[in-house]
Amino acid sequence: MDKTKKHHFDTLSIHAAEQEDQNQSLNPPIYMTSTFTFTDLQQAEDTFSFKRRAYVYTRGGNPTINLFEQRLATLENGVDGVAFSSGMAAISSVVMSFAAAGDSLVAHRNLYGSTFGFLNHLITNYGVKTKFINMTDLNAVEKAITSETKLIYLETPTNPALEIIDIEALAKIAHSNGVKVVVDNTFATPVFQRPLDFGADVVLHSATKYISGHGDVIGGFATSKDFDYVQKLKFGYMCELGGVMSPFNAWLLLRGMKTLGLRMERHEKNAREIANFLRNRPEVVKVSYPGFEDHPGHDIASRQMEGFGGIISFELKGPRENAESFVRNLNLIKLAVSLGDAETLVEVPAMMTHRDYPEEELHEFGFSSKTVRISAGLEHYSDLLNDIENSLDKVYRQ
Ligand SMILES: Cc1ncc(COP(=O)(O)O)c(C=O)c1O
Repeated sequence: MDKTKKHHFDTLSIHAAEQEDQNQSLNPPIYMTSTFTFTDLQQAEDTFSFKRRAYVYTRGGNPTINLFEQRLATLENGVDGVAFSSGMAAISSVVMSFAAAGDSLVAHRNLYGSTFGFLNHLITNYGVKTKFINMTDLNAVEKAITSETKLIYLETPTNPALEIIDIEALAKIAHSNGVKVVVDNTFATPVFQRPLDFGADVVLHSATKYISGHGDVIGGFATSKDFDYVQKLKFGYMCELGGVMSPFNAWLLLRGMKTLGLRMERHEKNAREIANFLRNRPEVVKVSYPGFEDHPGHDIASRQMEGFGGIISFELKGPRENAESFVRNLNLIKLAVSLGDAETLVEVPAMMTHRDYPEEELHEFGFSSKTVRISAGLEHYSDLLNDIENSLDKVYRQ
């Protein structure tokens, strides 16, 4: 790749940061090694005293992991990135890199369940408090910030309510108060949204999802435009806390990323087909999809996103048993947590991924005990619609 030329996203997702291999291999080698050797003690000492640049130990750096970090950072318009063993390892490390005992955080009310659990329970054991608010209301953000606030944390679109938060407006408020902004960009991916360009300080991912795309990797990632911060996150947090990614997983993620743009186009097309179909069904009371013009966040999404993503959430008429019967009667669509895979997946968050939320108060967090979430896969949409139609018929016409 000619580094002096500006390349399209789809080219960068295949070529960014590529290096010539001594054997001219098309694909990068997997450096499946925990440690790297030295020829003698002098070379080791020169390396440890930073006189010589070389790999030492995979938790501190590995060529396959570094290629993944640099390629995904390029796609997010970050300067460099840090790979983690999971999305949660990325989230916990990034939050800890900003907040110490006595500090407080402001988080959006609707987050992935374990993220909510981490911010609501675990981190409080270390003296950090989190205030959960509705960030679609920017006045609430202004009001929530105090002199202890160090960090604003959000997803947009959110999991599973698909609420949209104005990253640019939020970053302005945060920065005028000396507060940093972290955005979990798992749902949108850099194909549809690059939060650093709207003022976010750090962007992170569960790479397990669309970045992998094939349901065969657990991984996480974080990036920033601040090179010194990325170094601090890598060596001061990932390396010390130990949430390192396997080189094999980095290689699988590099393979997945080659088709990220293509896949996101299909995920979005299928999500739109499913959302439109559901909206026209009498059994469905509410469909949330940011691509709908009457979605409350549609205008903001149109400004900050280049596509509306592959996730839909909805509610069925009647008791929750109808949602349970709906997922049981699906055939092609699989009941499973996770999202962003080739296979279309369905789940009921209140019963599965979002159990950390208090069930009686779910409406205050933007979703309900009956919310069903679908991650549109890559199958042909006609088969998905047939599967959904058959299941709805079984639930309501038997
Ligand atoms: C939006 C979001 N962020 C973070 C995570 C956590 O990622 P991981 O499962 O890779 O730890 C998930 C998992 O579902 C998620 O949906």
